Amino acid sequence: MKRILTFGTYDLLHVGHVRLLKRAAALGSHLTVGVSSDELNISKKGRGPVYSTAERMEIIRSLNCVDHAFVEHSLEAKGDYIREHKADVLVMGDDWEGRFDIFKDLCEVVYLPRTEGISTTYLISSISENKKLAVGDV
Ligand code: CTP
Repeated sequence: MKRILTFGTYDLLHVGHVRLLKRAAALGSHLTVGVSSDELNISKKGRGPVYSTAERMEIIRSLNCVDHAFVEHSLEAKGDYIREHKADVLVMGDDWEGRFDIFKDLCEVVYLPRTEGISTTYLISSISENKKLAVGDV
């Protein structure tokens, strides 16, 4: 069975994250998650995560669908991570569509559709504006 690898920040874990991870896990028999470091997020998204790397790792590792998690320190090292974790399939959300096709010589590359209407960025702005999240909207 296939070994699956995916990457992300997974800050303020939400249903879009959980659905992505469950769908990724269902593509194989072993799911590894690269959780991006605080430093990587500051360079990638221009802000640090609300939860620290250690907290995000603990949350991701607690999910039944996740078999292994490691800290992703560099965006440029994806090829090394694919080899190191012996991934058969690299799974990314379709916000990254096409961006990882360069790794198709190392493994299968699959882009899964994002869940509409939710993101960490949206949660942060909702909380800071004190908006009520309507349950069932997602
Ligand atoms: N994801 C998803 N559906 C969403 C949000 C995220 O499927 N609504 C997926 C992303 O495509 C990615 C993984 O979850 O594969 C981790 O995404 P991450 O960037 O950590 O979460 P976002 O909510 O997109 O964070 P931000 O708003 O900070 O960009």
